[in-house]
Amino acid sequence: MNILVIGNGGREHAIVSSLSLSADTETIFVAPGNGGKAPGSENVALDVSDHDAVIDFAKRNQVGLVVIGPEAPLVAGLADAVRAIGIPCFGPGAAGAQLEGSKKFSKELMCRYGIPTAAYGSFTDKAEALAYLKDVGVPIVVKADGLAAGKGVTVAADMDEARKAVEECFEGRFGSAGTTVVIEELLTGPECSLLVFTDGVATLPMAPAQDHKRAYEGDKGPNTGGMGVYSPVPIVSEEEHATMLALMEKTVAALAKEGIDYRGVLYGGFMLTPQGPKVLEFNARFGDPETQVILPRLRSDLLEVMLAVANRQLTGFELKWDSRWAVSVVLASEGYPGEYETGLPISGIESAEELEGVMVYHAGTILREDGVLVTAGGRVLNVTALGDSFRQARDRAYQAVDCISFQGKQYRSDIGARAEQGRSAWQ
Ligand code: AMP
Ligand code: GLY
Repeated sequence: MNILVIGNGGREHAIVSSLSLSADTETIFVAPGNGGKAPGSENVALDVSDHDAVIDFAKRNQVGLVVIGPEAPLVAGLADAVRAIGIPCFGPGAAGAQLEGSKKFSKELMCRYGIPTAAYGSFTDKAEALAYLKDVGVPIVVKADGLAAGKGVTVAADMDEARKAVEECFEGRFGSAGTTVVIEELLTGPECSLLVFTDGVATLPMAPAQDHKRAYEGDKGPNTGGMGVYSPVPIVSEEEHATMLALMEKTVAALAKEGIDYRGVLYGGFMLTPQGPKVLEFNARFGDPETQVILPRLRSDLLEVMLAVANRQLTGFELKWDSRWAVSVVLASEGYPGEYETGLPISGIESAEELEGVMVYHAGTILREDGVLVTAGGRVLNVTALGDSFRQARDRAYQAVDCISFQGKQYRSDIGARAEQGRSAWQ
């Protein structure tokens, strides 16, 4: 079967790498893709916001499955357009993607169905938002309602910072994503992501993962798309795990009750609070970089899973997982998440991949016409390692990191460090 994967990040390289292992996979087209390759994969220069162009390409190339990686095309309804011409698609339509595309929509759904989340207010009027802020006080969290590439959230310790965040949203810092502002209670505890495959009826969980959102060591500095991740998460109790899973199932049932046909991955971002797990956010897709530790542990055929999701045949499906631990470290460009240079040559990936249990996923890379691999984004590579113990996976990942060079290579050397110390590290 020919497959079309939409996206160009480390997540998509991990998806393509897993799909390439399936016996039924012929060509995997990746639009637009990056410098990363897998057997049978081919980059195609498609404008994914042009739905007609995507559909035309899929028809001309006998594509049997379209997989949509990032949130923007999901929110724009690409999955609806693909399904409308009868091609199976992995990823929710625009109605389901609102769970990620509008924080207000997602908070309202959670409140209607009794899914625990931070107390909040949502506003389209600046004066009302500022009055609410004054009422509830700090610390507080201010969020742009719409998609803002992970940059729309401010955790404000003082009133000036909170006020500034509200003002910036209404002054257009995030464009139309900020015309509605959500202000919510600050939750505390470790964060944990639980992703599930769902066809809108059945829910199949993946192993929990923990991302490291802040740019610098010790969880300091600005929020990023994610600087490193591991899976499973040793600090999650069985009870917390069961609660998170029950909440994901409740959300899938809630979507069905709302008449939303949801097929793809539902990503729950949880805070493990002293009162139990609460939902920070939902994403309508695989996490990036969570996917880069989850899929290397999947022993089932990803193409079969995705087709079962897309065709609503997930009931009765069983997933098989590798029992090893996975740790992934992000190598970023100097300056990320601020300004950074691109076009810098990268070396050492082959020697990193010779190490046992190591996989290197490309994120912000491109293969130049002269055959040289160069940096092309903020997050450049994801260095993932599997190990029989958490420590072994971590050691292997950092050994592989040392093999790779590019000018200004920036990474956190403490991915998974707190998990090794145990739960008390979050107190
Ligand atoms: P979101 O995009 O809503 O997941 O927010 C991005 C990050 O901001 C989360 O991963 C948390 O680290 C932080 N965050 C969001 N909401 C809250 C909250 N209510 N309390 C504490 N931290 C939060
Ligand atoms: N790793 C966070 C996300 O994918 O949104």
